[in-house]
Amino acid sequence: MIIHIVHGVNLDRLGVRQNEFYGNHSLEERIPILKGWLNKNWPNVELRFFQSNLEGEVVNYLNDNDKPKNAFLVNPGAFTHSSVAIADSVAGLKAKVLEVHLSHTYAREAYRRGSLLAAFTCGTISGLGWEGYRLGIDALIGLHDRN
Ligand code: DQA
Repeated sequence: MIIHIVHGVNLDRLGVRQNEFYGNHSLEERIPILKGWLNKNWPNVELRFFQSNLEGEVVNYLNDNDKPKNAFLVNPGAFTHSSVAIADSVAGLKAKVLEVHLSHTYAREAYRRGSLLAAFTCGTISGLGWEGYRLGIDALIGLHDRN
C-alpha cells in the first residue's frame, strides 16, 4: 500500500509562516520523522510526499496517482476553502482520502470552518499538529486492512 501525503498552497512555508498555528518545523524536517515512525510500525506501507502551490498540479497529482488500493492524506492549505477543482478531483477518486489540518480550523476565522472537499473524504483531522498525520496514516491503514 502507498499513502500519498499531499500538501497544497503555502505548505512549503511551514516552519517560517505563522508558527503559532503551524509549528516550527518545515515539511523537509517532518518527512524523515514520519517515514521513520512508519517504517517501525508499518514496514510494508510506503509514504510518498507531494506539495504544490498550484491548484492544477495538486489535481494532476491526485488524478495521476489514483489506485483503489492506495490512499491519500491531504492537507490542501487554503485550497480547502476555495478549490472546486480539487473537490471535483477528490469526488472522482477511487482511493480513500482523509483530510488533515495542522491547526484547529474550526477554532479560527469563520471562512476556515468550511471545506469544499470534506464531503468526498472519509474524514477530517484538525488541530492536532503533526500528531494528526500519524493518526491519519493509522486510520487509512486500518480502513485499508478492513476492506
Ligand atoms: C491549514 C489550514 C488552512 O486554513 C490554511 O489556509 C493553511 C493550513 C492547516 O494545516 O491548518 O494553509 O490547512
